[in-house]
Amino acid sequence: MSVTRRELFSRLRSGGLLDEAPLNGLALAARGHEEDSALSFWGQAGGRGRGAGAASQAAAPSIKLSSNENPMGPGRAVLNAITGRFGETMRYPFNVSPGDAQLIETIAAQHKAKPENVALGAGSQEILKVAVWGYTSPARHLVTATPTFENATGTARRMGHPVVEVKVDGQFRLDLEGMLANARGAGLIFVNNPNNPTATVHSGAAIRDFVERVRRISPDSVILIDEAYHEYVTDPAYETAIPIALNTPNVFVARTFSKAYGMAGMRIGYAIGMKDTVRPLARLALPFNISVLGTIAALTALNDPKHMAAERDRNTQARDFTQKALDALGCRSTVSHTNFLFTNVGRSAAAFRTACAAQGIQVGRDFPPFEGSHARISIGTMEEMQKAVAVFRDVLAPANVGGGERA
Ligand SMILES: Cc1ncc(COP(=O)(O)O)c(C=O)c1O
Repeated sequence: MSVTRRELFSRLRSGGLLDEAPLNGLALAARGHEEDSALSFWGQAGGRGRGAGAASQAAAPSIKLSSNENPMGPGRAVLNAITGRFGETMRYPFNVSPGDAQLIETIAAQHKAKPENVALGAGSQEILKVAVWGYTSPARHLVTATPTFENATGTARRMGHPVVEVKVDGQFRLDLEGMLANARGAGLIFVNNPNNPTATVHSGAAIRDFVERVRRISPDSVILIDEAYHEYVTDPAYETAIPIALNTPNVFVARTFSKAYGMAGMRIGYAIGMKDTVRPLARLALPFNISVLGTIAALTALNDPKHMAAERDRNTQARDFTQKALDALGCRSTVSHTNFLFTNVGRSAAAFRTACAAQGIQVGRDFPPFEGSHARISIGTMEEMQKAVAVFRDVLAPANVGGGERA
C-alpha cells in the first residue's frame, strides 16, 4: 500500500515523532543575518542551486510561527566559527579538536560538574527518547502532563509501556500534585518546565518540593526535568533544577541548543545529572551523535553569554508586543516564559490556523484537550510579529467568526 508524503507526516505527527513537520520545505532560518559572512558564503554556493538563498527565492513568502524556533538563527560568533570548520567534516567528531569531549567538559564546567555528569544527544529529543527506553517498561509507567511536549508520551506508547497523563491545572500549569499522586512505581516522570505548549513555569521552590516528595514515596522513579526554554524565562522565582539533579539520585535535566541558541537544525542537546542516572542514557544514544559542526557551534555559543542575554530581551519585547495586541482583541494568553504564546483564540485552533495560513502566517498545531479554544503562536522577529498581528486582527475580527466555531 503506498503512503503519500503528507500521510506519512501526519502519521509521524500523531505518533508524537514530529512536533511540527516542515511540509513545504521552506528554508526560513537565520533571518536577520543576511549580511553575515557565513551566509554570503552560502549565498555563493546557492548560486549553484543548493543554498538557502536559492531555496528561499523559489518558495512563496510565509512567516513560520509554528515550531518554537528562534527566528534569528545562531549568533554571529557561531556562524563565523562553523564556516571555518567545513574542511574538517571528513573526520569523526572524536578525531577533531575541539571535539565532543571538549563540549562535554565545557557544559560540565559551566554547571560546576564533571564530564561523567553529562550525556550529549542529537537534540534533547534523543535524550528524552532514550530515557523512555531505559527507564520505563511494561511494569513501570511514564507519568507526564497533558498537554505537554509529546516525545516521551509517544515513545512510551509505541513501546507499549503504560502512560499516565495528568491534565494541567486551571492556570495551565503542570499539576504537580496530580503528577505526584501517580508517581508511585513510575519508571519515569516527565516534568517540562517551562511547559510546551502552555508556556507556564514553576518556581525553583515548587520543583524542589516536588522532587523531595517523589523521592520519599517512590525513590526508584527517575525524574526528567526538561528545561528546553530555560534561557527565555524571566520569572525571578524560576531556578534551573541542574543543582538538584547533580545532588539527587534519579533526577536529571535535559537542555537543548534548538531554542534560544537558534540551532534547531544542528541537533544538539544534553542530559545532566548524577553519573549513575546519566550513564545509561549515554549508553543508549547513537554513537558519535553530535556532528563536528554541531560541536563547534555549541562550544562557541556557550562562550557567548552576551548574545544569549540580547536574544532573551529581543524575544521578551516581541512576545510582549504580540501578547498585548492579542489582549486588545479579547484573546487572553497564559503567562508565557518561553518563545511562544498559548492563546485563547475563541475558536478551534484548526479554524484559526487555516485562516492565518491563507494569509501567509503559520501557527501551531492542535494541542488536545484545548484544541477547541487555544492556539500556540511562536514568537518571530518584531517585524514578523507586526505582520502576524495585522493578520490576527483580520482573522479574529467578529465578522470573520465562522458559524458555531466560537468556544
Ligand atoms: C519541551 C521541549 N523539549 C524538547 C524539545 C526538542 O528539542 P530538540 O530540538 O533539542 O530535540 C522541544 C522542541 O520543541 C520542546 O519543546
